[in-house]
Amino acid sequence: MSARRPIVAGNWKMNGDRAAARALATAVEKSSSGIATVDLVICPPAVHLTEVEGQLREAAGTEGRPQRVALGGQNAWDKPAGAFTGEVSPQMLADSGCRYVILGHSERRTLCGETDAVVNAKLKAALAAGLTPIVCVGETLTEREAGRTDEVVSGQVRGSLAGLGADDVGRLVIAYEPVWAIGTGRVATPDQAQAVHALIRGLLGSLAGAGTAAKVRIQYGGSVKPDNAADLAAQPDIDGALVGGASLDAAGFLAIARAFAG
Ligand code: 13P
Repeated sequence: MSARRPIVAGNWKMNGDRAAARALATAVEKSSSGIATVDLVICPPAVHLTEVEGQLREAAGTEGRPQRVALGGQNAWDKPAGAFTGEVSPQMLADSGCRYVILGHSERRTLCGETDAVVNAKLKAALAAGLTPIVCVGETLTEREAGRTDEVVSGQVRGSLAGLGADDVGRLVIAYEPVWAIGTGRVATPDQAQAVHALIRGLLGSLAGAGTAAKVRIQYGGSVKPDNAADLAAQPDIDGALVGGASLDAAGFLAIARAFAG
């Protein structure tokens, strides 16, 4: 069990129309009341953010309590505004009610060519906008089978966090998402995940000091489901989950969050 407050985030990816987004957000907020010891985040498609923000506020309001589910973006550009057709700035995300933003997801690294340098620029822009970045790292199956997991993940952490001071490192959430486990149903074993989480925490220690490293929350992502979440949550350096497919079902997402609530 982690010594940090767990954070469980749902990455909805490019799924759902407006009606589905409204319904899912409402269901997650309404059913979240028993999970006070875990930070809950949902990351809908950018076009649905404003609407989902309203739904979360309304769902909590009808129950006369503060909102429990926070909002996050799935990506952001590295500038506050300007001639960047099709992009969304971190300031726009913040203005739409986001507190978090996922950066460097493997789908963006692979499909959109995002390098560590790109992720680094976006991360600095997101911090400047007051957002909490959820920075994703993870090796491919080929890299794992070649025994290169530690080298690849360390390189991504160093490159993505380059130039950050200890205070800024302390504001991050890191997500370890082995590419071979994303959307495949093939989850990393708790031991495999714990080993990489411990490696990342050690590296954060050398970059920002042991005190900061001990505070940073490191999520696991990749085929997390209600039936495997408890074993992951039992590991000392796994501080939550970044959930894809299973976050599209409110009951499943909250069952995962409950596993981290202990
Ligand atoms: P799945 O949970 O669908 O494997 O996706 C994980 C992920 O990519 C979360 O960002």
